Amino acid sequence: MGPFITFEGIEGSGKSTQIRLASQHLEERGIRPLVTGEPGGTSLGVKIRELLLNRGPVEIGAESELLLFAAARSQHVQALILPALREGRWVLCDRFSDATIAYQGFGRGLDVAFVRNVNTFAGGGLVPRLTILVDLPVETGLGRALDRAARQSGPAEDRFEHEEMAFHRRVRSGYIEMARREPDRFRVVDGDRSIQEIHREVCMHLDALLPIAGDSCPSGTSAATKNPSPS
Ligand code: TMP
Repeated sequence: MGPFITFEGIEGSGKSTQIRLASQHLEERGIRPLVTGEPGGTSLGVKIRELLLNRGPVEIGAESELLLFAAARSQHVQALILPALREGRWVLCDRFSDATIAYQGFGRGLDVAFVRNVNTFAGGGLVPRLTILVDLPVETGLGRALDRAARQSGPAEDRFEHEEMAFHRRVRSGYIEMARREPDRFRVVDGDRSIQEIHREVCMHLDALLPIAGDSCPSGTSAATKNPSPS
């Protein structure tokens, strides 16, 4: 199994830029990672992403939102992530189960223990070997995200960017709490610095995995591990 590495953070944390740079860094070392992200990664995931992010007329309650993220994840894990890991590839994923705990658990206020159970089912028990949490103040991140949205055509901001400040503060504190609970898996990097400074720190964490890159694996005997299914 290749190592499964996830990147997490609030809106505007710059994690997508960091994933792109991290992928280049690995390629320079002869590793060609699969770079993917959630919600997305499969055609079902892309459709669900549109539903979840568009501020259109479709009403989505917190419970439905949780299940839609879970549906996208299940397909993503079974059709794309697990097959790549089984081939020994490194997988870099822009958001995974921790985002559901942070956003739907801490942000929306759904029961965190229940959200964890849904995550286990949807993710087939897959746990990242390493999670890079790009952390920064909510005001800074949201300011960046809204600037970016304003520069693009179409709706100014997506459903999550449109949420109130208090929602984003709960999301951030959820991430920080998770990182505190699992210090072996999480690496918290300060996202309120230059892209290059952050990248250097991310590289350090990735390089630390190089000698043991083979030991990432899905935990437990989940449906996904028992039944590597077609897409
Ligand atoms: P992003 O790909 O631009 O980060 O946007 C994805 C949005 O979806 C972001 O606002 C976080 C949100 N999200 C959740 O609320 N729960 C999840 O489980 C995931 C993966 C993302």
